[in-house]
Amino acid sequence: MQGLNVDVVIQGREYAALKDVSFSVERGQAHGLVGESGSGKSLALRSLMGLLPSNARVTGGSATFKGADLFANRGRNIRKIRGAGISMVFQEPAVALNPIARVGTQISDGIAQQKKMSRKEARDYAVHMMGLVGIPSPELRVDAYPFQLSGGMRQRVMIAASVACQPDLILCDEPTTALDVTVQAQILALFNGLKEELNAGILYVTHDLAVVSELCSTISVLYAGRLVESGSAARVLGDPQEEYTRALLAATPRIDEPGQRLRPIPGTTLALRDRPADYSFAMRIAEHALDTPTNFEEQ
Ligand SMILES: Nc1ncnc2c1ncn2[C@@H]1O[C@H](COP(=O)(O)OP(=O)(O)OP(=O)(O)O)[C@@H](O)[C@H]1O
Ligand SMILES: [Mg+2]
Repeated sequence: MQGLNVDVVIQGREYAALKDVSFSVERGQAHGLVGESGSGKSLALRSLMGLLPSNARVTGGSATFKGADLFANRGRNIRKIRGAGISMVFQEPAVALNPIARVGTQISDGIAQQKKMSRKEARDYAVHMMGLVGIPSPELRVDAYPFQLSGGMRQRVMIAASVACQPDLILCDEPTTALDVTVQAQILALFNGLKEELNAGILYVTHDLAVVSELCSTISVLYAGRLVESGSAARVLGDPQEEYTRALLAATPRIDEPGQRLRPIPGTTLALRDRPADYSFAMRIAEHALDTPTNFEEQ
């Protein structure tokens, strides 16, 4: 992804939601795209899939996947892109799963058509994938409907359905935020296994730096549509160069330091239509300087 610009039209006016955003995802590795709510993470991910909302469009940049330009045939070729090995895992399984189809069918449908599998082969493959994502007794659950499974199991089914076609690139938009901490840890372990097992690249969007440190080898930090800092996860988390990254870190609970004091970031990212053209984190902090001390280096 090189120099991505995305504009959004609100009440007839065009606003720049993403400005010059670049990152890359290597095979067998995960890249974390992090930032607070409203920073543009979902828009960045959706632009790769050609799944932007109707009032948003890519106005610049290029995205290359296996040598092909993803933006070249926008619109017409989404099916082809998915077929060629990019899949997406959403935050809410409820939206992605069909409530009235058996989970096994939903997992194997795509690949069964592609490979012209028999019903028995497709069912066996679904059982295999359910086992791979850590669903206990998959042969008993393969014929269940989504509502018969717990939230964590549904999330696993969705992941199994996304990776069933053996994608080379998996795009994840906060797939664990709706889950409790234990299930979250299991899903992260699952992604860690999948990136090795499938030798797939993972683009992982989240506001949670703790998640990123578990999974990702490289990170990009996004603030209000612009890239603030990027590099190896060890370097960005261990030796952040930008005040915004330090602020995010100071606001993130650390597993190795229970009982530490967290410092929430003052204020919120301004909505698109309220942002001045050169809107920066420093401007937000200046606005809130009277409420809170703002030296994030101390923690
Ligand atoms: N279709 C749309 N119409 C108007 N504004 C939009 C639209 N989609 C996104 N935005 C705005 O663009 C900005 C970036 O949105 P985006 O959904 O990418 O943020 P995000 O980083 O994914 O946030 P979150 O963590 O809350 O999911 C936000 O200010 C959002 O309100
Ligand atoms: Mg989002």
